[in-house]
Amino acid sequence: MRVLGIETSCDETAAAVVERSADGGRILSNCVHSQIADHAAFGGVVPEIAARSHLSRLDGLISRAMEDAHCGWSDIDAIAVTAGPGLIGGLLTGVMTAKALSAATGIPYHAINHLEGHALTPRLTHGLAFPYLLLLVSGGHTQFVEVRSVGDYRRLATTIDDALGEAFDKTAKLLSLGYPGGPQVEQAAGTGDPQRFDFPRPLSGKDEVNFSFSGLKTAVRQTANRLAPLSDADVADICASFQLAITDILRDRTQKMIRHFDDAHETHIRALVVAGGVAANKAIRSALEQVAAEHGWKLVAPPLELCTDNAAMIAWAAIERADGFPPSGPELAPRSRWPLDERASGLIGSGKRGVKA
Ligand code: KG4
Ligand code: ZN
Repeated sequence: MRVLGIETSCDETAAAVVERSADGGRILSNCVHSQIADHAAFGGVVPEIAARSHLSRLDGLISRAMEDAHCGWSDIDAIAVTAGPGLIGGLLTGVMTAKALSAATGIPYHAINHLEGHALTPRLTHGLAFPYLLLLVSGGHTQFVEVRSVGDYRRLATTIDDALGEAFDKTAKLLSLGYPGGPQVEQAAGTGDPQRFDFPRPLSGKDEVNFSFSGLKTAVRQTANRLAPLSDADVADICASFQLAITDILRDRTQKMIRHFDDAHETHIRALVVAGGVAANKAIRSALEQVAAEHGWKLVAPPLELCTDNAAMIAWAAIERADGFPPSGPELAPRSRWPLDERASGLIGSGKRGVKA
């Protein structure tokens, strides 16, 4: 089975071809155009600019993905497109393109939940067996999800205010570092003193399993205001102290999650997967690796280009869904909000931005 994937939910335009062979999945092509340069001047993603950019780039990217994979339409069995969650203008561009291609070629198309793409990626990259625990940390989401099987996801925790990537981006903006902020904060943290500021670790040590980052963000702002004008050393120390607070929070939450499974004697679950753009952060990766090892779990981190937004994960999700899930019809409408676990109740303030995954 060979699938063309399309991803346009946020600020990456992407197309990819993935096939399922006897020994798992194989990526035949994986084309991504990042819009970072288009949005950098605004310090964040501008939905209107994103939608226009997707529109002008998507056709070319699909052609390139097909060429790179040495495929013609007769080689493609299905088209997979992100239908949510995300920015509605971008989602419409992708979904309309998938519908048009499907109508013109007769190839069925599947509407895919972007979060499901992230959730199933370790099965493509590592052949990981169900069930496993997923920590999704990106610009729009911060969630623990128990991935039980295809289509069966249980959200165990989420943020009650900002997403983790958003916290990095806002901190960077406050310190006049560039956009996106995560890599800049990580770089500045490398030369800073993580002990200089004792920033809060909201909810740590409490029974609460969810995340909160707004108190930390406020503390960073107050510190920056108090010290202004900031020297390079101040910026580095703030970044290092912020990053240490984040790794402490993640360590605390992850321990709690792992204990939850171990205490329930759910010993069949032994793998922690980290995905999303924030998973690029080396301090975070090594903290998670350490916690996992302490409990006899393993950390699985897909390669960076498959941790961040891409279309290979969307194509792969359709391959995983091929059995027992019918293709989508012409009536399908994209959903800017589309929780992975429809049973999980919404939390006040969670996913406020709710547009990036
Ligand atoms: O998954 P992603 O590429 O896009 C979506 O959110 O959909 O994640 C982007 C987020 C941004 O908030 C960015 O600042 C953050 O991931 N990020 C990082 C790092 N690299 C990217 N955060 C912390 N450390 C990094 N090295
Ligand atoms: Zn994403």
